[in-house]
Amino acid sequence: MTTSEQQKLDLRYGPGRLPAPETWSPVIDHLLDHRSVRRYRPDPVSDDQLTAIIAAAQSAATSSNLHAWSVVAVRDPATRAALSECAGNQAHVRDAPLQLVWLADLARLEHVARLAERPCAALDYMEMFVIAVVDAALAAQNAIAAAQSLGLSGCYIGGMRNQPEKVAELLGLPPKVFAVFGMTIGIEDDSAGAAAIKPRLPQSAVLHHDALSAAEEPGRGRRRLQPHDGRLL
Ligand SMILES: Cc1cc2nc3c(=O)[nH]c(=O)nc-3n(C[C@H](O)[C@H](O)[C@H](O)COP(=O)(O)O)c2cc1C
Repeated sequence: MTTSEQQKLDLRYGPGRLPAPETWSPVIDHLLDHRSVRRYRPDPVSDDQLTAIIAAAQSAATSSNLHAWSVVAVRDPATRAALSECAGNQAHVRDAPLQLVWLADLARLEHVARLAERPCAALDYMEMFVIAVVDAALAAQNAIAAAQSLGLSGCYIGGMRNQPEKVAELLGLPPKVFAVFGMTIGIEDDSAGAAAIKPRLPQSAVLHHDALSAAEEPGRGRRRLQPHDGRLL
């Protein structure tokens, strides 16, 4: 354990709240540095950087090896401005040099199934939509961590779901493709101060051992497992 590790934990949990564990790694160290950044310099993200980021994204696990996601890299300023409007006029969507729009993409699977003359009725099930959204989120999280490792910064943009039809029109999305969220990528403009590390809940609020123990937790209330059907009440 080093001072820097303890400092990083202090920023997340409050001073002295979580003593640094003996176990640490460069990846954990990097992940603890995460900050959403909302002010960007105009410097472009290079093709080379984008290639490396997408390689990291594609290295994420993917449910049933289905790769049910795609991503649109938007650099065009006019499209970025239009996406910004869709996302509630968030200035960083317009200003960041690169907007990655992460897609739950079941259209490619449908296309492949049709080419192979295989049935694809399962694609219409809610479970497949969940699979595609989870796949997109896992790829996106790898991407933002990779971008940050290259000295870039990012911010997820859930506001991309404010007007899903407009976003689909702007990006040319076919049926069975849904924009889950956007993600600004670029170099942070810290001239007015760098974005802060935001604190997290104490681990006791999110980490449970062997079963969810909610009795002590404010705001969650007591939960009991009903023996007859296993539902959480
Ligand atoms: C799925 C998702 C959607 C988000 N949408 C937005 C958004 O539309 N605009 C924004 O400025 N930040 C957005 N955020 C960033 C969160 O506000 C941010 O992660 C949270 O406040 C914690 O701050 P931190 O990322 O700096 O630790 C989003 C984050 C996630 C995970």
